[in-house]
Amino acid sequence: MNIAEAVATRRSVREFLDTPVPLATIERVLDQARMTPSGCNYQPWEAVVLTGAPLKALQDVLLAAKADDPLEYNWAAPGAYPEYQARLQAVGAAMYGALQIERADKAARTDFMQANLVSFGAPVLLLCHFPKFMKEPQWSDVGMWLQTIMLLLRGEGLDSCPQEYMGNYGRTIKAHLGLSADTMLFCGLAIGWRDDDAPVNHFKRERVPLDQQVKFIGFD
Ligand SMILES: Cc1cc2nc3c(=O)[nH]c(=O)nc-3n(C[C@H](O)[C@H](O)[C@H](O)COP(=O)(O)O)c2cc1C
Repeated sequence: MNIAEAVATRRSVREFLDTPVPLATIERVLDQARMTPSGCNYQPWEAVVLTGAPLKALQDVLLAAKADDPLEYNWAAPGAYPEYQARLQAVGAAMYGALQIERADKAARTDFMQANLVSFGAPVLLLCHFPKFMKEPQWSDVGMWLQTIMLLLRGEGLDSCPQEYMGNYGRTIKAHLGLSADTMLFCGLAIGWRDDDAPVNHFKRERVPLDQQVKFIGFD
């Protein structure tokens, strides 16, 4: 698979097959992803990767836990601005449409959001964290690392779903995994093989047209 195909075929998968993922595959991807660039070559990313019984044990803890109050970071903040709220609503409408969940059915929507806690059935969960003293540039470096992993996973025939939702349970996750309170639990990454029969893995995700995002200057 070339890079353009990996980019084009990556999507956030929200229903996985329960086929296990070999450790060697995950290690190969994470080893290759070490070449991700980062400002000052700080390489601020760290992670714990779980599968099998330890993953199930964490999920049981999460299902019994309440979300952090207050949250350690607010991943939904731009939603306060109408333009970004509209983008969230559009992807939500497409996703819940595929799931045949009505807009008014708040309970069903909440249940589906809670499916984040079991990573939509993915057999592997990567939990990405870094010291709390990291600032915006390093958060952005970590995003590049995650994208590199997601694209390399496509090269292995695998799929993923990034999961900021895990950040809602940062303190619970850190306590369960024995991570320092000075660590920021940023994001989960569900990893596995997509269930291609699941409609939730097929809805169209809209994107802003290029001419509204990028200005080209000085070209002929
Ligand atoms: C950093 C990050 C965190 C995300 N967190 C979640 C999440 O917690 N739960 C979820 O279902 N999707 C999550 N997503 C997926 C986004 O909703 C998705 O990327 C966006 O709607 C575009 O769809 P696509 O990834 O299928 O192209 C996250 C994506 C990113 C990049």
